[in-house]
Amino acid sequence: MNTREHNLTKHWQAIDAAHHIHPFTDTAALNKEGVRVITRADGVYLWDSNGEKILDGMSGLWCVQAGYGNRELADAGYEALKTLPYYNHFFKTTNPYTAELADKMAKLLPEGHERVLFASSGSEANDSALKLIRYYWNLKKKPHKKIHLSRELAYHGVTMAAASLSGLTPMHPQFDLPLPGFEKVPTPYWYGSKEAYGDVTPEELGRKVAEQLEKKILELGADNVASFSAEPVHGAGGVIFPPPGYWEEINRICKKHDVLIHTDEVITGFGRTGEWFGSLTYGIKPDIMTMAKGLSSGYQPISAISLGERMGDAIANANEELVHGYTYSGHPVASAVALKNLEVMEREKMVPNVKSGIGPYMQRRLRETFEGHPIVGEVRGIGLIAAIELVADKGKREFFPNIGDVGTHCRNYCFGSGLISRAIRDTMVLAPPFIVSESEVEEIVAKLKAAIDNTARDYKKM
Ligand SMILES: Cc1ncc(COP(=O)(O)O)c(C=O)c1O
Repeated sequence: MNTREHNLTKHWQAIDAAHHIHPFTDTAALNKEGVRVITRADGVYLWDSNGEKILDGMSGLWCVQAGYGNRELADAGYEALKTLPYYNHFFKTTNPYTAELADKMAKLLPEGHERVLFASSGSEANDSALKLIRYYWNLKKKPHKKIHLSRELAYHGVTMAAASLSGLTPMHPQFDLPLPGFEKVPTPYWYGSKEAYGDVTPEELGRKVAEQLEKKILELGADNVASFSAEPVHGAGGVIFPPPGYWEEINRICKKHDVLIHTDEVITGFGRTGEWFGSLTYGIKPDIMTMAKGLSSGYQPISAISLGERMGDAIANANEELVHGYTYSGHPVASAVALKNLEVMEREKMVPNVKSGIGPYMQRRLRETFEGHPIVGEVRGIGLIAAIELVADKGKREFFPNIGDVGTHCRNYCFGSGLISRAIRDTMVLAPPFIVSESEVEEIVAKLKAAIDNTARDYKKM
């Protein structure tokens, strides 16, 4: 790093500390430590203002499916910026980019999902989904169906409704949430289920947890329950996968009690699990889906809500104004980039590669390397999403005391060696861009191995 770079870094750190409050961050602690300035990115790598190269094993926030520096996406955005930088859809107008995008999505979405609405973030999409669910039941003359069910450990975003829907409890007290009308049910987190459920198999746990959903619906009265929301795979809650049979049971229970299924595909959408949507991977029958991130590979803020047949028909044929929408719903530049992103992903066969090529390669290498490790309790994953659960006693499925400390320690080793892997509690998480190569997977595995070895050694001394 030369003097100019050093001075610039100091400058950016100073103005950021003075004026910028970061999301999900202890501002005072960050300002004391000094923020890292990310200046550019290419492929699976980021560079900071000191010239350090970092392998992004998390695709930003699980979103850069196509990898960084894709020229075609940049050109598509530039073209739209020159041609139609902005216009809205409120006044009986559309634009070619958004109309083409909606059409393209209808071809990729699960059967019956023919209609989409647009927004700019996952949180907005989830907030909108809950409003549309309420509207649907009002149209169906079942106005008592108002309660939104969701799962413990779920992450659905940060608006008042999306945070209320989230089951990560630290998200609530600062804001006096959840709002009334939001209820939680357990989730099938097998590795962490021993205390509550004993020595059950994952399949048994899936059944028992699904039973809890039915119990809750009956307790509240099916006439009062509007919807059940869930991520096909928990992301920020710890990368937790559904056991076999779980979603079949959920489909059955929701159908029986006429509860709408809302799948939050903000992470699982657009190929992460090896199919275009997690709902397809797990045979879920959603009435409504929300998606964001991978829709534009994170190059533009855009999200969407897709309506299954019954919701789509009811809302599109309501014969009245839908009193909902954002200034940026279907923004032309974001739509153009998303459309190009889907075209590139299809042409480059990225999703089949996640399913049958690089995805299985990464999963195999993680299992080979970590399953026998003394502090690794479980390696789980599918496609290009994976979790490595660090534990005190793998035989007894016993977590470390002070949950989170060991994960943070390990994550710091990763950062130090130029790898971004996120720690959720004591679980190390990976979700690299779909363009990751075998040699880059090897780099991830080697850096993570060194970090976990160092963590195990330090833990012995703690
Ligand atoms: C499953 C899920 N839903 C919703 C969101 C919220 O999306 P956003 O941060 O774009 O509002 C996220 C963000 O990580 C997510 O993982």
